[in-house]
Amino acid sequence: MIGKDIKKAIEILNKEQLVAIPTETVYGLGGNALSSKAVAEIFKVKNRPSFDPLIIHTDSLEKVEKYVKSIPEKAMLLAREFMPGSLTLLLPKEDIVPDLVTSGSPLVAVRLPHHPMTLELLSNLDFPLAAPSANPFGYISPTSAQHVDNQLGKKIPYILDGGSCEVGLESTIIGFEGEEAIVYRKGGLAVEAIEAVIGSVKVLNHSTSNPKAPGQLKSHYAPQTPFQIGNPNELFNEHKGKKIGVISFSKEYEQVPAENQVVLSALGDFSEAARNLFAGMRHLDSLNLDLIIAELLPEKDLGRAINDRLKRAAA
Ligand code: TXA
Ligand code: MG
Repeated sequence: MIGKDIKKAIEILNKEQLVAIPTETVYGLGGNALSSKAVAEIFKVKNRPSFDPLIIHTDSLEKVEKYVKSIPEKAMLLAREFMPGSLTLLLPKEDIVPDLVTSGSPLVAVRLPHHPMTLELLSNLDFPLAAPSANPFGYISPTSAQHVDNQLGKKIPYILDGGSCEVGLESTIIGFEGEEAIVYRKGGLAVEAIEAVIGSVKVLNHSTSNPKAPGQLKSHYAPQTPFQIGNPNELFNEHKGKKIGVISFSKEYEQVPAENQVVLSALGDFSEAARNLFAGMRHLDSLNLDLIIAELLPEKDLGRAINDRLKRAAA
């Protein structure tokens, strides 16, 4: 069931059941992070392997301090600047956070989502919410309540509808090794914005295996339709006779019917492109096409995270 009733969401969560929650990045599948029953249910509903840990969500930095042993200086600078926001910090966990949440890692991923309904919800809970993106494992993340309902509606009691996600890409995940800050997942907060606050950071590119952030799994965010990245004009020639869809940054291609095209931002705006990406991928995936072709964006700003998602969709 979809609705806007925060009280109802609180009641369900207090019973160790799940509620899908809106955030500015993507919708999350939320449950009491301190309850092994609720956390186990999250893994089950998402069909997620237990080696892939969950982010915990709360509404204030004071509460974060209850769940982590320490916060390095660079993390604190970032927290002050970008929380609430599209940033997830990997920090040493306190014992109160179950091993199930972190898949046995001594680090816990923490985030303060920037969405008024979810912040109000979190401020009324005595526990943080563990919340992965509210999609079946491996599929495209949901950016509307309807996306969640389409795939998980029958498996969860409630979806809190907070409208379309304003950022549209999952949070940027950053961890710390000694003095060094490492971006494990490019996301809705641009690396340039992070570097403006703490200086240069190391950015990991997607790889097949990466024990620190399994979200770096190469094939992820993938539609059902075959998906290829490249120069559309060249690929059209290669795939003549096929029903083709196109995802482009700002321009239309006349070789393909307009209804099979998603232009992410006619003005070439990275934030608008990010906001439209996952809904566009889902839309084209629903058209029964033979192939979706996507062009990469300039490798800067949110273009870097968008390209990361496109590459993983194609892997
Ligand atoms: O924007 C977001 O981050 C959304 C919203 C709902 O907050 N959540 C999200 O969660 O994208 P999920 O589970 O789909 O992706 C979280 C990623 C996973 O790839 C996971 O491997 C990584 O974060 N992660 C979580 N806890 C971790 C930990 N303790 N150490 C390393 N990586 C971790
Ligand atoms: Mg996910």
